[in-house]
Amino acid sequence: DLYNFRLIGPNTKVHGVIGNPISHSKSPHLYNPAFKFVGFDGIYLPFLVDSVSHFIHTFSSLDFVGYSYTIPHKEDGLRCCDEVDPIAKEIGAISCMIKRPQDGKLMGYNVDYLGAIAAIEQGLTELNGRSKSDSPLSGRLFVVMGAGGAGKALAYGAKAKGARVVIANRTFGKAKELAEKVGGEAIVLSELEKFHPEEGTVLANTTSVGMKPNVDHTPLPKEALKHYCLVFDAIYTPKLTRLLREAQEAGAAIVYGTEMFINQAFVQFQNFTNLPAPKQFIRDVLSKIT
Ligand code: ATR
Repeated sequence: DLYNFRLIGPNTKVHGVIGNPISHSKSPHLYNPAFKFVGFDGIYLPFLVDSVSHFIHTFSSLDFVGYSYTIPHKEDGLRCCDEVDPIAKEIGAISCMIKRPQDGKLMGYNVDYLGAIAAIEQGLTELNGRSKSDSPLSGRLFVVMGAGGAGKALAYGAKAKGARVVIANRTFGKAKELAEKVGGEAIVLSELEKFHPEEGTVLANTTSVGMKPNVDHTPLPKEALKHYCLVFDAIYTPKLTRLLREAQEAGAAIVYGTEMFINQAFVQFQNFTNLPAPKQFIRDVLSKIT
């Protein structure tokens, strides 16, 4: 009952998520019921796409409203936009594309960092109480594992909140390039276990290590996790990754990838519909499907 075809008509607004693989995506299970809940005439479809430019070229004449972008198409998606939001441009990746109604221009945004940063800030506030500065990330050391689209998004997002950023990536060159752009330090991921960060450091995983079906994998051994006060994992399938479970066992606070997804969903829903997001409804649906 994901799509109620009797409700699809000539004015139904078409949305979707573009990725490869795509069958694991929860987004259609969220946006279709949420559109229905607020009485918005829209559908949201999963698109398995090899070439973003080919897909956009083929589909752009159709009357679609917006697409979400997921692995591995966030960077190619940006190249297909007519205009890109300055932060998404800085990050070099989009998570959302909207077709502007006035002129059909394709506008690119990145809301990944908004959702993740908000979730981490909330986690730190729960841990330490309200901070005196604007953000509990201000002045704090922030280690990001991964230097792909999500890694860039988190690095820029944390930097914008005043954190000092360290990028740890399997391919050192990519870590170095990102660290130079953001104004941070770079380290190869395999060396991160030897890195002993100061007290109060936050660790964020944006690599795909530990994602279903490889749930027994982790990007950082348990022994190293005791150095961090809070660990965030951008992976949300499974919700409790091996990294988060071991971080918890090591005494760190944890923030689930689902929290990033929830906060992202609020922003995306508003981008797509121009309506306020039904926050509790979105939370309830996500808790059922994740
Ligand atoms: P996303 O948009 O979610 O960030 P991405 O751009 O494809 O996805 O980036 C994937 C990230 O996961 C990269 O940092 C990648 O490391 P490399 O730059 O070395 O490729 C990381 N990654 C993927 N598989 C990995 C693995 N098996 N071990 C360590 N890192 C991995």
